[in-house]
Amino acid sequence: MPDFALARAAARAEIRAGLRRTPPSISPKFFYDPVGSDLFERITRTPEYYLTPTEIGILEGNLGEIADGIGPRAVLAEIAAGSARKARIVLGGLNTPAAYAPVDIAEEMLAGQAAEVRRDFPALRVIPVAADFSGEFAFPAFDFDRGRIAVFYAGSSLGNFEPQEASAFLARLARAAGPGSRLLLGVDRKKDPAVLNRAYNDPGGLNAAFNRNILNNVNRLAEGDFDPEKWIPHQFYDEGKGRIELWLESAGDQTVRVAGEALRFAAGDRIHTENSYKYDVEEVLALAAPGWRPLHHWSDPAERFSVFLLTG
Ligand code: TRP
Repeated sequence: MPDFALARAAARAEIRAGLRRTPPSISPKFFYDPVGSDLFERITRTPEYYLTPTEIGILEGNLGEIADGIGPRAVLAEIAAGSARKARIVLGGLNTPAAYAPVDIAEEMLAGQAAEVRRDFPALRVIPVAADFSGEFAFPAFDFDRGRIAVFYAGSSLGNFEPQEASAFLARLARAAGPGSRLLLGVDRKKDPAVLNRAYNDPGGLNAAFNRNILNNVNRLAEGDFDPEKWIPHQFYDEGKGRIELWLESAGDQTVRVAGEALRFAAGDRIHTENSYKYDVEEVLALAAPGWRPLHHWSDPAERFSVFLLTG
């Protein structure tokens, strides 16, 4: 079977298994079709979504220290790169970086990122890596004159794992990057629930559209007939659990055909689509401890967001 057919079969099986669970769930990795990637990019530009400008401010304000901590001729390996906006800021501060390696599940995004970075840094090697980083992970050899691998994991995407999985993922990254490598990690902090709830419920409805769009991708990947209009998106902060939860609620009784199954949903039934954990500084260091030791961390004055530099 060609690779894409295998990937398609695996996606279909995963969607089917998730929807049969109690409560039913859809893996957040299925958010990022081209429409979802574009919606997410637009969310990061809403005034309510403070995460992106706050993280960018921290990177820009501490670029010299960040570059010193990473060292010369580094390979900046960005996990879940999105638009590469932040990577371009970091690359601009690094001492003669050797390469930029965006690593992403959404292959459609990789080509665009590579092109933008090539335009800004014509002399830099750009090595896109398409990978499903929810599983075991290896970097290419990076077989050229270079300094350290600096893994860049921004946007608080770490929070989209369960804490145990986040810790295991960071440990896998440390093994892949090797001793002496660096991890530059951006994480959203615990804070006033009202601020968090606003960030994930912009008045323009981009968060709602993003949440609901996962059903279009599920339809495409698993021969589904979900009608997204019959699902009400919910995004809310659970303070006890320290996480934003994303759900889709059935607006009425309905039967959905997907991945060869006929699934019945009653009005009010919910499908879980994602969590976004918020962490204190000590919690992040504890999660990272199996693979990484802290060198520095920086926050904005309001301590809404933190960027960590750790060593493998
Ligand atoms: N990891 C970021 C966050 O949790 C980005 C993100 C993932 C996101 N899924 C999202 C943002 C859904 C808004 C809505 O905030």
